[in-house]
Amino acid sequence: MGYTPEMKELIKRVEATRAERVERTRRGEYFPAMTLDERAEVLGRFHPDYKEAGRRAVKVGPNKGDVYPEEFVEQLEAYPRIHPDRVDFGALPTSETDVLVIGGGGAGSSAALRAAENGCRVVLATKLRHGDANTVMAEGGIQGADQEVDSPYFHYLDVIGGGHFTNRPELVAALTHDAPLVMSWLESLGMMFDKEPDGRMRVRHGGGTSRKRMHSAGDMTGSEIMRVLRDEVRNRPDAIEVMEFSAAVELLKDAQGRACGALLYNLETEAYFVVRARAVVLATGGFGRLHVQGFATTNHYGATADGLVLGYRAGVSLDFMHSTQYHPTGAAFPEQNVGLLITEKVRGLGANLVNIDGEQFVFEREPRDVESAAIIRECVERARGVTTPVGRLGVWLDSPMIEELEGPGTVERELPAKFVQFMRYGIDIRKEPMLVYPTLHYQNGGLKITADAETSVPGLFAAGEVTGGVHGENRLMGNSLLDITVFGRRAGTNAAAYAQNLEDGPGEPALDHVRAFIADLEAGGVGRDRISPMLIPDYTTPEVRQRQLTAHYLGTLR
Ligand code: FUM
Repeated sequence: MGYTPEMKELIKRVEATRAERVERTRRGEYFPAMTLDERAEVLGRFHPDYKEAGRRAVKVGPNKGDVYPEEFVEQLEAYPRIHPDRVDFGALPTSETDVLVIGGGGAGSSAALRAAENGCRVVLATKLRHGDANTVMAEGGIQGADQEVDSPYFHYLDVIGGGHFTNRPELVAALTHDAPLVMSWLESLGMMFDKEPDGRMRVRHGGGTSRKRMHSAGDMTGSEIMRVLRDEVRNRPDAIEVMEFSAAVELLKDAQGRACGALLYNLETEAYFVVRARAVVLATGGFGRLHVQGFATTNHYGATADGLVLGYRAGVSLDFMHSTQYHPTGAAFPEQNVGLLITEKVRGLGANLVNIDGEQFVFEREPRDVESAAIIRECVERARGVTTPVGRLGVWLDSPMIEELEGPGTVERELPAKFVQFMRYGIDIRKEPMLVYPTLHYQNGGLKITADAETSVPGLFAAGEVTGGVHGENRLMGNSLLDITVFGRRAGTNAAAYAQNLEDGPGEPALDHVRAFIADLEAGGVGRDRISPMLIPDYTTPEVRQRQLTAHYLGTLR
């Protein structure tokens, strides 16, 4: 339990430089930020997105020729779970609704609520339990310009700068414009934001923010958001039906090419069924469980790119899928915590990143991609990282600085989840630093949408991490929780309007687009050995698989 004797010995080097670093921080003397040229250099040489290996051009579909991570291309270049010829719409159990929302995280729940508030009957179908989503994994905060010294204008500039000026401007305008509204909406639903003693919102900086606008609920902000959204959805059984363990495996389109529902698979009964709808919202989240380039991940088990596959087969283009976010500080020790998010708030509260010699090597609030690349450089090129007993690399995140700077009790008050998650393994982060390394955190890209959350397929809307463009090539902290609520709400409102204005439809559901996609796969010479969507990641090791096969074989002999 806790650090090994060798690691404890190394921690003494961190302790030896701590007093001086605390003093410098008190004086406001920070490690110098990189120039733009230095950033470009470290990104180009060390960020996984810039490596040629592990990426290849996709052979089929609307983005044919674009280069993406191999693990993701393998999901796109895969055959359906069930061939359209085996789907008999007349025989499958079928229900009907106005708006079908696919995904039970923050974006899906926000969409369901807005569609219901606008007078629609809603089915919310989710692959696991309602709320099993990256939303609950988000820790540090949600941005919103609701303070006197701030405005959506400054927020807009920060988002665009953070995204290296590549973001879709109309999406950023929507995001930042709706943010103050979303803060008060969440509070009206009962969200317990951190407050100052006088009742004002407590706000902090995050990486790349020019004003303090990070709102939080301890280090469990996403969990608190999901709590109120889920409660609200469950309090509307008159309008919203929640279907758990119901994974969408294909979108349905009518003869006019309009989205008109989905083919779903019940993970408990293993039966297929159909939900027909006048409009569909895709809110299935990201792809962290694909472990792009072999990285550990902060993501929940359901983050397997399902919605991207479904939307792509239906004809929606992808935007920014070349860009993946690696959070700079994922846990590298103990082994049980590997990949776990160590919120940026830890650095916001004053903790330095230091190497094996206790030396700072990077400004703690560089954009995330730059910060991650700098950590990889420190470990790989400069060989100044710490090696764990199983051979992982990491640098120290000096959390004991926090209580020296902010006073006793700060860690348990501001970082209660992190405190427990490390204490469980005998590490007291008030007294010992955490060992960290970049971890796969967020899919910057996704399905292309408009500011109204529409895709190019009529009747198909999308929101949250399954979409791309708003964050450009780098998302700032606190803008994903904002993204899911802003665009979830917009998707729900606009899907409801679409559903209500649809005069002549939708028509009979069909899977002709899937047939066409299969023909494309065959023409592209794609082998038949892969199916998608993945639904559940498979962590079975070859040894365990062999044992399972043997057990099965013995079972058949008995
Ligand atoms: O560091 C964090 O708390 C992560 C937040 C985010 O990705 O928005």
